[in-house]
Amino acid sequence: MKPSKPFYVTTPIYYVNDRPHIGHAYSTIAADVLARYHRLRGVPTRFLTGLDEHGLKIERRAKEMGKEPQAFVDSMAAPFREAWDVLECTPDDFIRTTEPRHEALVQQLWTRLEQAGDIYLGDYEDWYCVGCESFKTEKELLEGNLCPVHKKPVEKVKEQSYFFRLSAYTERLLEFYESHPTFVRPAGRFNEVKSFVREGLRDLSISRTSFRWGVPVPGNDEHVMYVWLDALTNYISALGGPAAEAPLYKQFWGEDATQVHIVGKDILRFHAVYWPAFLLSAGIAPPTQVWAHGWLTVDGEKMSKSLGNFLPPAPLAEAFGTDALRYYLMRGVAFGQDGDFSHEALVARYNGELGNGLGNLLNRVLSIVKKNLGGVVPDSPRIGGVVEIATEDGPIYEQLDRTLEQKAQEAARESARWLEEVNPGRALDAIWKLVAEANGYIDRTEPWSLAKRGETGRLGVVMYSVLETLRWLSVMIWPFMPERAEALRTQLGLKALEDREKDVDVWPAHFGELPAGTQTALGTPLFPRIDDDEKARIFASLGLGRDKESDRMSEQQEGPGAPSASGATQNSEPAIAADATPPEPFAPDMSFDDFMKVDLRVGLILSAEKVKKSKKLLCLQIDLGEKGPRQILAGISAHYQPEALVGRRVVVVANLPPRKMMGLESQGMVLAARDEVGLGVLSPLHDAQPGTRVS
Ligand code: MSP
Repeated sequence: MKPSKPFYVTTPIYYVNDRPHIGHAYSTIAADVLARYHRLRGVPTRFLTGLDEHGLKIERRAKEMGKEPQAFVDSMAAPFREAWDVLECTPDDFIRTTEPRHEALVQQLWTRLEQAGDIYLGDYEDWYCVGCESFKTEKELLEGNLCPVHKKPVEKVKEQSYFFRLSAYTERLLEFYESHPTFVRPAGRFNEVKSFVREGLRDLSISRTSFRWGVPVPGNDEHVMYVWLDALTNYISALGGPAAEAPLYKQFWGEDATQVHIVGKDILRFHAVYWPAFLLSAGIAPPTQVWAHGWLTVDGEKMSKSLGNFLPPAPLAEAFGTDALRYYLMRGVAFGQDGDFSHEALVARYNGELGNGLGNLLNRVLSIVKKNLGGVVPDSPRIGGVVEIATEDGPIYEQLDRTLEQKAQEAARESARWLEEVNPGRALDAIWKLVAEANGYIDRTEPWSLAKRGETGRLGVVMYSVLETLRWLSVMIWPFMPERAEALRTQLGLKALEDREKDVDVWPAHFGELPAGTQTALGTPLFPRIDDDEKARIFASLGLGRDKESDRMSEQQEGPGAPSASGATQNSEPAIAADATPPEPFAPDMSFDDFMKVDLRVGLILSAEKVKKSKKLLCLQIDLGEKGPRQILAGISAHYQPEALVGRRVVVVANLPPRKMMGLESQGMVLAARDEVGLGVLSPLHDAQPGTRVS
């Protein structure tokens, strides 16, 4: 269902003690994707990001840098703004907690909590982690009084402090959770929040006297406010709230609006417990949803400066292209789960899903249109679903065309649903299913043969169907890859989405709206292939030196006694270089007739999916030139992303008896070569027709 309410999406406001890194980029890109999607739907949308500039951590960092805190935070704002620009993130507002507009409203919120009787003055004595800017109970600490998050010693704090009566909100919060079952996502994290609250809440210290870098407490400026109370308020202060009459606040924090806070799992408690408690106390409705995503590691390791893998986003965007980076982050790391940022995986997805999948689709289609139709979009075959063109060449609106249209409808519906459920990765899965369908459609309809045979009517139908599919794709990928989506549209001869009427819903819904007669313009590939040389150049430019894979290979080849790929150790024998490894003994000779009994065929992979519960198997639908595709299971899941195989030609043993694996029937075998280093599926050098005999 189309979203209709005003949509407000926020990122955490980032601490300015460090420069932006890929973890920050992950939240910001996700929020940007959601904002762009809602804007395409013509819904009033507001996207907020900003900076958390107060607190002890920042005060100390400024000191280390030999700067006054304000001068220091001012100097850190530009790198964040620039990073979001480079990443094509489009916040409507960028709030800094040192701005007067924010400070005034935090003080207003404090006054409301005070008026509600929820603030009292007391003495605080407990532990504090400056890294988290959070109080810790003895129970939470690791041995040696270390913070469980930062693994650094916590500090003992003993001072006068104002407290917020959080303990009085245990029941109210639980009731609120009960009546708002999707308040926290993913559901598993919500359960953690609920159990934390069920254990009972302690009052929260919300002011400090031992440092000055914060918002003064109204009426007692000996105290500055706890940095999290200050920071969380940014979500409403940026709208002009809690002053009820502020227009943005009315529009985006009103009951008629949806508010989504995107946060990392480490800061969920602040957003799902403290923030709604403050708001309930102030008589303000909590937001609609807090979405906690997982943490990124980099090439399998925790990101940290000491490991030298602290990844700023801009060089990656420059090396791979901003859109490829956005795509990779949104597709490669399931939202809500921890995931790994791997340079190798980025290249694999770039070449496979973007280059071979979408880029190749556009290129194939526009080349055929250029060669056979003068580059012009042919007449639409269907108006209101009715076949319009009849030719002597036979049926012109076939089941295949209908299926493609249905698949396009399905992709638009599914991707929209996933975006509304804040699951950008699943939305991309749905979109890429359509990319594979469209590539498979071209393979099956063989427009080049239609052109050769002069079946221009049918050719027109086929090309129209797939051009229209590309138009749909250009809209669906826009939230993720706005720049490449516009480039795709330029080649299709379409107006830029950026120039659309902003309050109109342009999400694709009616198949057949691409105007006939549109002049297409075959241009440069959308995602030029990153070959091995280019990859080496990019990796070197990122200071990665040799890639991990080659390190691993050389360890295996060079290290005496190092475990081999099969897990066996090589004792203390000198290492044998891989290319000198003697091959497996050859089989005894056989007759030519015997060889010819093996029916080897060229197959075209139409779709590829992981087999549930199997680590090894992919389920492939392969066109062997027969009536329908064959289902073949191949143990190659660890070596290929399914999408990267779609559209590839392979060699299939076609006359083996069917076999069941994991409850699925396999009707043949795909040939592959495996050595110590890896596995490669065999593919003919020339794109022979599916079903061609291999001998
Ligand atoms: N200033 C607070 C947030 C206040 S919001 C009212 C803060 N800032 S932070 O800069 O430390 O972290 C901001 C966000 O970056 C958090 O959501 C955190 O989860 C996220 N990430 C930091 N490192 C990360 C990864 N390695 N991976 C993914 N996200 C990570 O907390």
